[in-house]
Amino acid sequence: MLQDHLISAAHLSRDDIEAVLDHAAAVDADPDLVRGRHDGRVLALCFFEPSTRTKMSFESAMKRLGGETIDMGAVDSSSVKKGESLADTVRVIEGYADALVLRHPSEGSAKLATEFVDVPLVNAGDGAGQHPSQTLLDLYTIRENAGLDDLTIGIMGDLKYGRTVHSLAHALTNFDARQHFISPESLRLPRNVRYDLHEAGAQVREHTDIEAVLSELDVLYVTRIQRERFPEEREYREVAGEYRIDTDTLAAAPDDLTVMHPLPRVDEIAPDVDETTHAKYFEQAHNGVPVRMALLDILLGGDDR
Ligand code: NCD
Repeated sequence: MLQDHLISAAHLSRDDIEAVLDHAAAVDADPDLVRGRHDGRVLALCFFEPSTRTKMSFESAMKRLGGETIDMGAVDSSSVKKGESLADTVRVIEGYADALVLRHPSEGSAKLATEFVDVPLVNAGDGAGQHPSQTLLDLYTIRENAGLDDLTIGIMGDLKYGRTVHSLAHALTNFDARQHFISPESLRLPRNVRYDLHEAGAQVREHTDIEAVLSELDVLYVTRIQRERFPEEREYREVAGEYRIDTDTLAAAPDDLTVMHPLPRVDEIAPDVDETTHAKYFEQAHNGVPVRMALLDILLGGDDR
């Protein structure tokens, strides 16, 4: 069963994933199933880094469950600005809420925070580490469009700093999935993730060129180069704009290829792709609401509360 907290996709079993996805599908089909179930409960949103989709979809999810949200607001206007530690911040906020969603620039921060809180905590991104709730909505979208078994997926872009990539790659080891990683040499998957995939017996191949695998793919998961994580702007400029797809690139793709992106995109998917039947990234973003409703419902104890 899903633990009290959701910190890393590496902790998710196939049963955990299917429980959330099945519940999300039921909620999606009939929102009345959970309407008002968490009336009077409060979700705290603690975002130490920018967010649009993740924060707003958690907010929408909690409200649709009948609950309320409180928001720490911008770091500049919080006590963090006065030098408060993360441990103290979450210890205090835990007293105001029934669950916490945390996004923070340091890898390992969500795990650290769980040492100080008893209410369920969801890691909504810890630096270049993990982003497991994004993975659940990614898997939901993959399941709806291509199925999760006998899947061939290409994951392209910033595999080094992309936390959505790390979480997705871990979670896919629970399924019969062939994972092709496509990136410049300098942005390959980190060694620890490659090691974990190897240990899990995942079917993994790495490429520098999309053309090598495009025709085999069921899903192409494109990611943004994570400019904010590069130690040097020069290093970013060396790779920026290199991994971009447009309708010309997709001419060689299977007709039923599903193209995904966690968003925000910069220029890695040309706008002309939006009009094709391949484009599923807006649907993917919308799936954030039912999936996070299902996740919060489970973490808050479902109807046994
Ligand atoms: C991602 C993130 O924050 O890691 N965004 C999101 O949550 N949908 C991807 C990104 O910022 O590139």
